[in-house]
Amino acid sequence: MKYIFGNWKMYLDFDESNILANALLQEKFDENNLKLAIFPSALAIREVIMAMENSVFSVGAQNVSWVEKGGYTGAISAQMFLNVGSEYALVGHSERRHIFGETDEDVRKKLQACLEIGLTPVLCIGEKKEEKDSGLRNTCLQRQLAVLAGLDLKNKEILIAYEPVWAIGTGNACDPVEAEQVHHWIKEELKKYSDQEIPILYGGSVKAENVISYVSLPAIDGVLVGGASAKFETFVSIIKKVEEII
Ligand code: PGA
Repeated sequence: MKYIFGNWKMYLDFDESNILANALLQEKFDENNLKLAIFPSALAIREVIMAMENSVFSVGAQNVSWVEKGGYTGAISAQMFLNVGSEYALVGHSERRHIFGETDEDVRKKLQACLEIGLTPVLCIGEKKEEKDSGLRNTCLQRQLAVLAGLDLKNKEILIAYEPVWAIGTGNACDPVEAEQVHHWIKEELKKYSDQEIPILYGGSVKAENVISYVSLPAIDGVLVGGASAKFETFVSIIKKVEEII
């Protein structure tokens, strides 16, 4: 099973999201060996979920609030995303951490909210260029994974996305062999928190030209695609490439 998840970020408005969702519906994909999910904006998510019902695509939230309801202007809770039919939620995406100042403590609360209600979180982790250059990659990833301590993961589905900050949206994708080594390291680290097999996706400048170099490696369970998932041709060609090798 390989995962191909598409994070549409804030690239598409309501109409564009629906157009892309409906275009994807016209394609046939290998539903037995692929796990496909898209993450539209909060404004479009309900419409996209309705369109994708009975399709091979699951739908997830890009960001959730951990409080269920109340006076939190502008926030949308994990529970509210679940209510409209979301299955997944990205948690701790690099852009949330580094543009919107989300802390590890925020990430932990969001994870907990998702796990408690049955929304599958995709915990995104990744080091900055300075951290990689100064040999602090593992220290950074260790800290970001430490939010899992104390969470009840038993029989809960959770995924990790390893997305080096310097590879996101830059065209400077991580060398696949290096990414695989990091995935192996993450798998070992995860044993501190869970005895279950937790899938790990690679993210950061994935496109049709390089996707095979990642998903053909055993420790890379799939990819989280940003920019290239927000365009029909590029997203479909990524999925078709992966279909060729599964
Ligand atoms: P990118 O983004 O594919 O545009 O580099 C990946 C992500 O942020 O999930």
